[in-house]
Amino acid sequence: MPKDFAENILSEKALLKEVLDRLNRGALGAVFFQGPDRRVIGVMTDGDVRRAFLKGARLESPVRPFLRKRFASGKVGASHEENIRLLGDEIRHLPILDKRGRLADVLSWAEMWRMPVMEPMLGGNEMKYVMDCITTNWISSQGSYVKNFEARFAEYHKMPRALATCNGTAALHLALTALGIGRGDEVIVPDLTFAASANAVIHCGAKPVAVDVTRAYWNMDPAMLERAITPRTKAIMPVHLYGHPCEMDAIMAIARKRKLRVVEDCAEALGAEYKGKKVGTFGDAGCFSFFSNKVITTGEGGMVVCRDEDLSEKMTVFRDHGMRREKRYWHEVAGFNYRMTNVQAAIGLAQLEQIERFLEARRRIAARYAAGLKGLAGITLPPEMSWAKNIYWLYSIVVDETKAGVTRDELIRELAREGIETRPFFYPLHHQPPYRSSGSFPVTEGLAAKGMSLPSSNGIRPDEITRVCENIRGRIEHHRIVSHLRLADKTATTKRSSAARVRP
Ligand SMILES: Cc1ncc(COP(=O)(O)O)c(C=O)c1O
Repeated sequence: MPKDFAENILSEKALLKEVLDRLNRGALGAVFFQGPDRRVIGVMTDGDVRRAFLKGARLESPVRPFLRKRFASGKVGASHEENIRLLGDEIRHLPILDKRGRLADVLSWAEMWRMPVMEPMLGGNEMKYVMDCITTNWISSQGSYVKNFEARFAEYHKMPRALATCNGTAALHLALTALGIGRGDEVIVPDLTFAASANAVIHCGAKPVAVDVTRAYWNMDPAMLERAITPRTKAIMPVHLYGHPCEMDAIMAIARKRKLRVVEDCAEALGAEYKGKKVGTFGDAGCFSFFSNKVITTGEGGMVVCRDEDLSEKMTVFRDHGMRREKRYWHEVAGFNYRMTNVQAAIGLAQLEQIERFLEARRRIAARYAAGLKGLAGITLPPEMSWAKNIYWLYSIVVDETKAGVTRDELIRELAREGIETRPFFYPLHHQPPYRSSGSFPVTEGLAAKGMSLPSSNGIRPDEITRVCENIRGRIEHHRIVSHLRLADKTATTKRSSAARVRP
């Protein structure tokens, strides 16, 4: 489909406020100016607009003195590769001109090169182990890699048992089912989480009861948890969100006092620690996800760790259609097929071999972001409590519009134009149809409206993090200058009109 550049083209007689308007409407981050013969004679990006304002321009100023008249351009007749090569750190938007110098196309850096929020890093033995599955014909859920992956995962957590599953939601459902959670029961979950936590509860026939999270570290608030307990409450599901652990001493004390089960949702926090102990090792069961955006991946996959042998045995039976291990094709319960394949486990094992390197990378990424965003008005960096080791699954920030001058959603849109993918926080559970409830969740509501996650892949380069930080800084600066100018213009207009009123 041909691209529509109407938003990107203005006359050289335009005013700066028109350029701003086009850029705000999403003109790919650059506006091109044409003379009377429609030849492109200049370019302005939002950086150019900002520099113009810093030199004293006003919203009503004509663009002409500020146009960038020397600019790179591609040619209609050139190959795509030749034109793309002209894009780079300095040139983010390349006009492609026809023989008469008129705009025929625009290539943008953002279209060519996107920085994802999270992508897997498969640089170890993944290929070798997968090839081994294929050459030996062991590609289903039988096979040594499943056993090996489970054993190494349990060892990593200093736990006696680990059961691999086909995904993280299945791991949660399996643990809850084997713990006897069912119809009429209530399970307390945080209001701020990925919905899979609550879905697993619903699929047991039970009811997820959402509680608010803390302002300090964005996870289940133990005080709210205690208040939400009713005679029907059977279990608690703390979710270690975005890589930060929950306050497990407080949660476990409540669970012991009220005789409740605890299933930890560690999907986003593999390797995170509470008081030096890994998440997933506090409750009755700890559940993990290996979806492709997680700390380690198997494509799709999950794991449950637990101490109790009986629980592990029940989960093993439920995982395999409810079939008794010692009596094949005899079903004591109606189970599920939640098995992990040998191919998934082969990838998982290779990934687990690299876990320390991945976790170190995550903390380095966090330190670079913290340095790059330090002191930015309206930006709150992710928490790390004194008792916590955050693994910064996704480096996540909170944007306060009143101080930053830009909303979270504007920032997401503007970074997307630069090829930087970000992600808003999850919607509060209680807003969504399957989990609607009428409680009070002010902290979740604030975070859900203002939180966003930045590109956080294990393999993200330092210069890419710098680019994200500079873009955020640039956007905030841009909005600050524009709102300052708008205010100054408004004050000048008010003064002019009141002066006109007092004239005889
Ligand atoms: C907090 C949380 N719980 C559960 C899940 C479910 O994991 P999966 O996608 O592997 O089913 C995810 C991730 O996707 C998650 O982020």
